Amino acid sequence: MLYTLFPARARRPLCQFFFFGIFLITLQGCTGFDHLTTVDPVRGVGPASADCGSCHVDQYREWQGSAHNLSYTDPIYREATDDYDEKSCLACHVPASIRTDELEARTWSRHEGISCISCHLEQKTMYGPHDGSALVYPHPIQADTAFYRSSALCGVCHEETFATWKSRVTMQRPAVRVPQCQQCHMQEVRRTSTRGTNIFSRMLVSFEQQHTVRNHRIDLTDMAGFPNAVQMTAERGENDSLLVRVTNLLPHNLPGGEYTQSSLSLIITPEKSNPSSPLSSSTPLNNSDQPFAPGDSKQVVITADSFGSPLVSGKYLLQLVRNQPGKSYDLQLAQSTVILDKAIGSK
Ligand code: HEC
Ligand code: HEC
Ligand code: HEC
Ligand code: HEC
Ligand code: HEC
Repeated sequence: MLYTLFPARARRPLCQFFFFGIFLITLQGCTGFDHLTTVDPVRGVGPASADCGSCHVDQYREWQGSAHNLSYTDPIYREATDDYDEKSCLACHVPASIRTDELEARTWSRHEGISCISCHLEQKTMYGPHDGSALVYPHPIQADTAFYRSSALCGVCHEETFATWKSRVTMQRPAVRVPQCQQCHMQEVRRTSTRGTNIFSRMLVSFEQQHTVRNHRIDLTDMAGFPNAVQMTAERGENDSLLVRVTNLLPHNLPGGEYTQSSLSLIITPEKSNPSSPLSSSTPLNNSDQPFAPGDSKQVVITADSFGSPLVSGKYLLQLVRNQPGKSYDLQLAQSTVILDKAIGSK
């Protein structure tokens, strides 16, 4: 055989090269990857995010379980739509593509919520922040850097938040740079666009350029203690009260968004537990109907009644948290301490 003409040492790389060549030819034909860009709304077929995940391993993992992945299966959404009866909501919660003049609901893979193609596919082409550097493309790509780095992308659905952000941008003169949504909500990482999972894909990836890009895990749980976002100070007021000042340094409402049901509350915990005061107690500070606007600095007067029990003198830890019905976590936004030299509420 021809194969035996080569020295044993060269056989393995040669063999790999041979199969790699065949693989490339097959890839270039592209027929094997047509499903990645083929959409048929009538029959209800189209690419699923899991299809993308076999090459875009990191992006898929980050997106899984994030707010956007859950935008359809979210129990609060299900309830609010009367068990999916209300169809007008689908355009934003399961869009086919945001790269169209009018949003349309996807007819397939709805359980994936806002899926990869919702943000990336238009007319059989995958749009993203970069031109490609790969050897072969299983799907056509096209760079639209400005859009993918801009708040306008998020604003397609987060209409109210985007409008508030935009008025902040135009208001701030001399222009203080207001970050784009992505700069706060998607952390920076450096990587190639795809990741090799076997010998062939590893060879393919080795041609790809690394870029500084952003993590797809857009989720509020990552925003706890975000620096310079929300400030809180507290002092003992007259008339047996605690004065808490909350300042919203964000370029959007706190809590934000037209559809949000979240609210803010204050948790107060004595540094040393005391038999006459409970370990910690909580009081609401506002609700989603009365958010703190960007730049707002409001003082909230809190009495012993708010907590349902007196506060003895001593040092207390204050935590400002955001609660969301149906979510198991409270997001801690800011914290501070206060020393009460006199008790509040215990005559
Ligand atoms: C067989 C592997 C493979 C699959 C499956 C795949 N892609 Fe890709 N994708 C690539 C390669 C290779 C590139 C080019 C990367 C480069 O040149 O840096 C790319 C580029 C992209 C880009 C542009 C990236 C940038 O930096 O701007 C986007 C967006 C994208 N793919 C989205 C998707 C989506 C959405 C799916 C699923 C429907 C998908 N891809 C499925 C291999 C794949
Ligand atoms: C296709 C429409 C759409 C686009 C585009 C979009 N979002 Fe969302 N986003 C939603 C929906 C719908 C939800 C609510 C998911 C749910 O049910 O909890 C959401 C949730 C969120 C949340 C979590 C809110 C919460 O209460 O838990 C954040 C943060 C967020 N989006 C930020 C962004 C950012 C930043 C961008 C741009 C990079 C963006 N979104 C782009 C529709 C969109
Ligand atoms: C300076 C950083 C920063 C920028 C810029 C920013 N956000 Fe936020 N965002 C935060 C922080 C911190 C929170 C958590 C506090 C909160 O819940 O409001 C948050 C909360 C949110 C929430 C959840 C609101 C709620 O409470 O239910 C959404 C949705 C959101 N942002 C979307 C956006 C969008 C869309 C943009 C761009 C138009 C944007 N953000 C720009 C930092 C930022
Ligand atoms: C809510 C919209 C949204 C969704 C959903 C989304 N992306 Fe993205 N994607 C973006 C944005 C915005 C960027 C640009 C981030 C940056 O500047 O690096 C991006 C960048 C990318 C890139 C190029 C940067 C990189 O990480 O290499 C790839 C590839 C990509 N997305 C693939 C995917 C895949 C695969 C999925 C599904 C698992 C997905 N995207 C889901 C908005 C989205
Ligand atoms: C214009 C796009 C858009 C449409 C249309 C839309 N939503 Fe949403 N929805 C969002 C965004 C964006 C969020 C994320 C929170 C926010 O920014 O208000 C969201 C979040 C939600 C949430 C989660 C709230 C929370 O605090 O966890 C529920 C529930 C919800 N929407 C219900 C609905 C219902 C019901 C309809 C139809 C009557 C609907 N949405 C239509 C964009 C939309």
